[in-house]
Amino acid sequence: MRKVSVGFLGCGNIGCGVWKLLQEFKADILHRADVEFDVKKILVRDVTKKRDQVIPAELLTTDPAQITDDPAIEMVLEFMGGEEPATRYMVRALEMGKTVVTANKMALALNWHILQEAAEKHHSGLYYEAAVCGAIPIIRTTIDSLQANRIEEMMGIVNGTTNYILTRMSQEGSDYADVLSDAQRLGLAEPDPTSDVEGFDAAYKLSILSSLAFHARVPFDVIYRQGITQVSATDIAFGKELGYTLKLLAIAKRAGNVIDARVHPTFIPDDHPLASVNGSFNAIFLHGHACDDMMLFGRGAGSAPTASAVVGDMLYAVSRDTPRYPTFHNANTLSDGLTVTDDWHCAFYVRLNASDRPGVLAHITACLGKEGISIRNLMQRDAVDGHAQIVLITHDAGECAINKALKAIASSDVQVESMIRVER
Ligand SMILES: NC(=O)c1ccc[n+]([C@@H]2O[C@H](COP(=O)([O-])OP(=O)(O)OC[C@H]3O[C@@H](n4cnc5c(N)ncnc54)[C@H](OP(=O)(O)O)[C@@H]3O)[C@@H](O)[C@H]2O)c1
Repeated sequence: MRKVSVGFLGCGNIGCGVWKLLQEFKADILHRADVEFDVKKILVRDVTKKRDQVIPAELLTTDPAQITDDPAIEMVLEFMGGEEPATRYMVRALEMGKTVVTANKMALALNWHILQEAAEKHHSGLYYEAAVCGAIPIIRTTIDSLQANRIEEMMGIVNGTTNYILTRMSQEGSDYADVLSDAQRLGLAEPDPTSDVEGFDAAYKLSILSSLAFHARVPFDVIYRQGITQVSATDIAFGKELGYTLKLLAIAKRAGNVIDARVHPTFIPDDHPLASVNGSFNAIFLHGHACDDMMLFGRGAGSAPTASAVVGDMLYAVSRDTPRYPTFHNANTLSDGLTVTDDWHCAFYVRLNASDRPGVLAHITACLGKEGISIRNLMQRDAVDGHAQIVLITHDAGECAINKALKAIASSDVQVESMIRVER
């Protein structure tokens, strides 16, 4: 039997979940892997705080060096959150030759190059399954199981909070602000929801996922990001009438050396596999040249599901003869030879408020036609006070072309109320 001494950096939601899983699954872990994880020290901010689990007081410390610098500790688990000091502590642990397991997508996405360098230099393992989509094994599926594939496309619902909000808006016809405050009351959204609702969390995860899928670093700052704060119940309802469901998608596509990486509210057809992923569930839909279409679905957050990924990584790490860590040549910048396009191609949903006068529709179609954009569906609502709602969905077009067309359409007779991208 191998005994592995472990230190925790953080003991909040995820730390307590890992503590609980390590306790209740101890016998199974021993039986399955012949290993015992012995938690030696736990870093927290406040040692007197009441926690979800009963943690022996002598394990708690506010001194990170008692974990990162203790030669007796072999493995460091990081679930403090935030960029710093989490990155600094992980780097220190890697420099001390320790294995690091992290759930921290932000630190990883922003400081991948620093963590990779420390791991490489000191030949220390760095594992991060829990950083993307909680319990869903998307990291190891991408880097191991799908190695024989050229992954051309990934689309994911990677943030449970925004999926919960959009699902309820869609099912109940409620407004964004009402559902958000309800989600905050239920503990499903943070008191400061910015990271989730503005798409930061999804973009951190997309940076990690697309880098692994495309074997090329796709840094966080090249990802286009638009959150859900401007989404209206009206657009969700019109989309529904046309057979579409609205989701906040993290999308990455690669065609040759051109990458397209973006997070934004997206309409997908009701029969798309991602359309039925509701509530706080996550899913990744991907296409590889050999595996074809594939979807992984499951709990993307929460104490126990995330602990499942952390403890899975701990077992994986101890089962390896050599440590594993990312090995990108260009760990900080977009890899050589690649470009990121902001002129991606998809269909577009557009809602217009137009004067109910002859020639207005002709003006709209002419502006679209001038940019080579044709209409797939068009719906007009009866005029109220001389104004009609016009909703249209285009055939595939370029982002630059639609923006140009919408600029030309906007006039004293037509207001562009919203534009939402549509994927198939
Ligand atoms: N929550 C989820 O469902 C989920 C899912 C996947 C991944 N993650 C990731 O897991 C990480 C942790 O999330 P969480 O929800 O567990 O956060 P949390 O509940 O806020 O816990 C953070 C823990 O870190 C400690 N901590 C924070 N800053 C510290 C500092 N400067 N010095 C010492 N201790 C510090 C806190 O100490 P005190 O307890 O004393 O305040 C607390 O124990 C984040 O990176 C998050 O993105 C979370």
